[in-house]
Amino acid sequence: AVEIAEMERACAATAVGFTAVARALPEAGAAGRGERWVEGVFGLHARHLGNAVGYDTIAAGGDHANTLHWIRNDGVLRDGDLLLMDAGVEVNSLYTADITRTMPINGRFTPAQRRVYEVVLAAQSAGIEACRAGNAFTDPHKAAIAVLADFFEELGILPGTAAESLDPETGGFHRRWMVHGTSHHLGLDVHDCAQARSELYREGSLEEGMVITVEPGIYFKSTDLLVPEEYRGIGIRIEDDILITDGDPVNLSEELPRDPDAVEAWMASLLG
Ligand code: GLY
Ligand code: MN
Ligand code: MN
Repeated sequence: AVEIAEMERACAATAVGFTAVARALPEAGAAGRGERWVEGVFGLHARHLGNAVGYDTIAAGGDHANTLHWIRNDGVLRDGDLLLMDAGVEVNSLYTADITRTMPINGRFTPAQRRVYEVVLAAQSAGIEACRAGNAFTDPHKAAIAVLADFFEELGILPGTAAESLDPETGGFHRRWMVHGTSHHLGLDVHDCAQARSELYREGSLEEGMVITVEPGIYFKSTDLLVPEEYRGIGIRIEDDILITDGDPVNLSEELPRDPDAVEAWMASLLG
């Protein structure tokens, strides 16, 4: 219970930081090197409310979102692009949140951005639904990538069907656009228990009291000629921190909106 309360505190502080970032977007865009600006805004709140950031903040405007772990953060924030922000406040007890939101820099998604966003959100919701005690650790990942693979099949960019891509032995084609795992343990360390034995981690099962992330993404590089042109340069991840219970999963970071209409409404309320 003590640890869960600290994780709730970390998520609440991180929500304050993200809200400050969204509010600062016009200023960050105008300042130039806006990725650094929003990194700084988040860092200010992390230091003020907690101990520090729990890990290097990823502030990725536009195509930078398609570089995994973009922490150089030296790009500009352009009207019409998205900002992928992956950041967490580590509270004074050293527990950390790990949250990603992808937000339209001008407050409104384009139709193409919204289409990709909705697929990532559906994948994440399927992953969160699988966060149940007794399920395999890999079940949220399997649920999420099934949704992504269906979308890639619909776009006609897989060399075969979604089912063929999801075959663990002979598939994996979807990994071109979803280049990481969906979940990791979270707590005192952002990649908590990363050295644990495989049978207790990747081959293990979910237990009540664990906190894991669910963080699918779609990464369509601007240079990827397999991807329909309208989607090139769009990179989206949504990441939340999920508590496993004896019943339904609890989203510790649900304070920050995920639904695209809710993201736009939240941003409109902040940007005026
Ligand atoms: N922020 C690092 C990660 O999401 O794993
Ligand atoms: Mn993570
Ligand atoms: Mn993250």
